[in-house]
Amino acid sequence: MTVTIVGSQLGDEGKGGIVDLYGDGADVVVRYQGGDNAGHTVVYGDETYKLSLVPSGAVRGKVGVLGNGCVVNPGTLFDELDALRERGLDPDVRVAERAHVILPYHRVLDGIEESEKEDLAAGTTGRGIGPTYEDKAGRRGIRIGDLLDPDVLRDRLEYVVPQKRALFSEVFGGDPDDVDPAGAFDVEALFERYRDYGERLAEEEMTVDCGAFLADHLDAGADVMMEGAQGTSIDIDHGIYPYVTSSNPTAGGAATGTGLAPAIAGDEVVGIVKAYLSRVGTGPLPTELGHVGGQTPEDGGDTSASAEETATYIRDEGGEYGTVTGRPRRVGWLDMPMLRHAARVNGFTGLAVNHIDVLAGLETVKVGHAYDLDGDERLTLPPTTERWGDCDAVYREFDGWPEVDWSDVAASGYDAVPENARTYLEYVSDQLDAPIYAVGVGPGRDETVVLEDPF
Ligand code: GDP
Ligand code: IMO
Ligand code: MG
Repeated sequence: MTVTIVGSQLGDEGKGGIVDLYGDGADVVVRYQGGDNAGHTVVYGDETYKLSLVPSGAVRGKVGVLGNGCVVNPGTLFDELDALRERGLDPDVRVAERAHVILPYHRVLDGIEESEKEDLAAGTTGRGIGPTYEDKAGRRGIRIGDLLDPDVLRDRLEYVVPQKRALFSEVFGGDPDDVDPAGAFDVEALFERYRDYGERLAEEEMTVDCGAFLADHLDAGADVMMEGAQGTSIDIDHGIYPYVTSSNPTAGGAATGTGLAPAIAGDEVVGIVKAYLSRVGTGPLPTELGHVGGQTPEDGGDTSASAEETATYIRDEGGEYGTVTGRPRRVGWLDMPMLRHAARVNGFTGLAVNHIDVLAGLETVKVGHAYDLDGDERLTLPPTTERWGDCDAVYREFDGWPEVDWSDVAASGYDAVPENARTYLEYVSDQLDAPIYAVGVGPGRDETVVLEDPF
């Protein structure tokens, strides 16, 4: 069978931890979209693994696959594999020959286009994700399979690189021969480096025909987990366009991004929900608490003293500060219209609600139950981001729950979760018409209350 793990909000809901939790029952863990824009955390014992490309099942020694829907930077992939091997893991990772390759010019163009876009910038991760998917759709991309055939690789580069040079110099006014990294727009330099990556992929027998590889495993009785990256509200089709990523994190992406048929991909679809919102990036956020300069829209966020205080509390308890920059992340109350939209788009068969421990100690926990849009009540997202920005959240309040020993709670089971937290969880489950499969009460594998294992 297959189980798909999907982020139901804005990314960073704790997908990696849930993949690790349920990964015990899987034989293969496959990523179906995105690239090294992801950062999935697995905390096991004293070890913390932050994975950007290697599927999270690697921590349990499961076979990992980067599906055809992914965009792969071979340099980051090999660095990550080498770093995990140094830490004593032995990841077995395969890469779809149909997956697209991120080249250095994609990263350069990602950065320059973000700075040109001003108000429309999404605050990307700068990994070249958007420009690589653009080339895929423009039928000028380079695929993993092309790295295995030097003649094809050279042909592709000779076609595309002059276009990128012209774009960089004539549209953006840069000098393609004076960039960091050097050689980002140089056919010969790119050819040599990417041919070498192709040789290493071949030597380590890493490339596969993803759909056939997975289907063979399923036929032989294996269980497959599909690991979504990012989240529904930053999906290119169903998210808050243009403040989105360039792929489909939603459950439909699990079929197109692997080559398994829709009826096979996603026997179970588990929506990962963070008990509040956090956002790295721009665009409206109706339930936002406080205001983060450069990301929150000018007139956005609740800037009252009490909202700022709650925002700081949630940030401190949840560690919602950028891992590299230390900058505060945007935070807000749970947004139910956003989650109802996610439940419909993805067809959740179950939910894992994380970070219940982070909200402990607050006197009152609020949720945006609905929106007021020009005097009308709305229970789900309007289709344009501009209209979303016009929505005011209509709140419901829940009594808060106390700080308790969460490891004890995880060991004892659901009945040990504080009563008010259970009321909150049951409200979410009722509204989304999906049962709670797991409740995250801390970052570790053992800090999860498991009600149901989808495998
Ligand atoms: P992902 O991108 O969805 O895999 O999520 P990230 O790993 O980027 O961010 C989630 C962060 O919260 C990580 O640091 C996790 O270790 C941590 N985390 C996950 N679940 C919980 C939880 O239930 N409680 C707390 N306190 N932290 C959690
Ligand atoms: P995981 O898998 C949170 C956001 C970026 C930006 C937008 C586009 O760890 O949940 P991109 O580089 O993809 O073109 O950036 O999407 N973003 C994420 N936010 N978690 C992620 O991944 C993200 N991946 C991209 O901040 O707003
Ligand atoms: Mg993350």
